[in-house]
Amino acid sequence: MTKTLLQVKNVKKHFPTGKRNLLGKHLQVLKAVDDVSFSIQEGEVFGLVGESGCGKSTLGRCITRIVSPTEGQVIFNDEDITQADSKRLKTLRRQVQMVFQNPHSSLNPRMTIKQTFMEILKVHGLAKGREMERMIDLLEKVGLPKDALDRHPHEFSGGQLQRIAIARALLVEPEFIMADEPVSALDVSVQAQILNLLVQLKEELSLTILFVAHDLSVVEHISDRVGVMYLGQIVEMADVEELYQNTLHPYTKALMAAIPIPNPKAKREELILEGDLPSPINLPIGCRFASRCRDCMAVCTQENPTLKEVKPGHYVACHLYS
Ligand SMILES: Nc1ncnc2c1ncn2[C@@H]1O[C@H](COP(=O)(O)OP(=O)(O)OP(=O)(O)O)[C@@H](O)[C@H]1O
Ligand SMILES: [Mg+2]
Repeated sequence: MTKTLLQVKNVKKHFPTGKRNLLGKHLQVLKAVDDVSFSIQEGEVFGLVGESGCGKSTLGRCITRIVSPTEGQVIFNDEDITQADSKRLKTLRRQVQMVFQNPHSSLNPRMTIKQTFMEILKVHGLAKGREMERMIDLLEKVGLPKDALDRHPHEFSGGQLQRIAIARALLVEPEFIMADEPVSALDVSVQAQILNLLVQLKEELSLTILFVAHDLSVVEHISDRVGVMYLGQIVEMADVEELYQNTLHPYTKALMAAIPIPNPKAKREELILEGDLPSPINLPIGCRFASRCRDCMAVCTQENPTLKEVKPGHYVACHLYS
């Protein structure tokens, strides 16, 4: 039996925004994450997909406790970390590591890679001898030569820097990694290399990863399960094969249709998503996808569907299936 490493229970992150009233209180609320629940098993990669602005990074920040959720709970290793104090957050910073879209954000431009890595080991009390072996071994794991340690970030290409950022995350032997669009800023050919590296590391080190992307094709090969987000909510969630073979939600279908097909002669149903994501400030009372959904029914503009398990392990929030 695998163990549940992370449980997200009814998490909301609302940002007060807009004009202020006489008491200085904001008059509007931006619901970036609005009642999200799911869990991640040890050794599992959970892909989180959705358009820009749907709340993926905010959800990731709530889970890793960079920010506090407005409501709900985050359970890590059977411990509620929603209200963790600063002492607990410090140890959590080692257990949970992040890889971002821009690798520069986690590397100091004035330090060599070795200096950055040593500093991290010291901060976490892990500089106890054999650091050089550990750093060289990690660089080898991510496909870089050991002399990379003596160089500065500007001496590397984007793909190489992302390899270093991955090594940096692995340095402290984390239990959980949040990768927020780690390949989005890279050239397509380099994207595939970094994805392959992550797949290989996942197998080798049984990593547990929350992998955020805005494109379904990116998460397909690395994820065990995938959650699709739309305007702050998960609208479909299933094992990766099930989701790709038996897509249910009209929004997921539109995202599927947007995946480029290698063979230009191959036919696929034309399903274009029109318009941008509506504002998370003025949310409709009905289904949040209704304004862009070609299957919209009367009930869809009246009631927001809840996420229901329609097949073992396959969840969807859509009136077509209720
Ligand atoms: N600190 C903040 N204060 C106010 N609004 C915020 C804040 N952080 C995020 N938002 C808003 O929350 C919504 C979700 O943002 P978020 O960055 O989580 O989206 P995302 O899915 O990660 O998008 P992208 O794919 O562009 O990275 C957006 O409307 C954004 O403007
Ligand atoms: Mg983001």
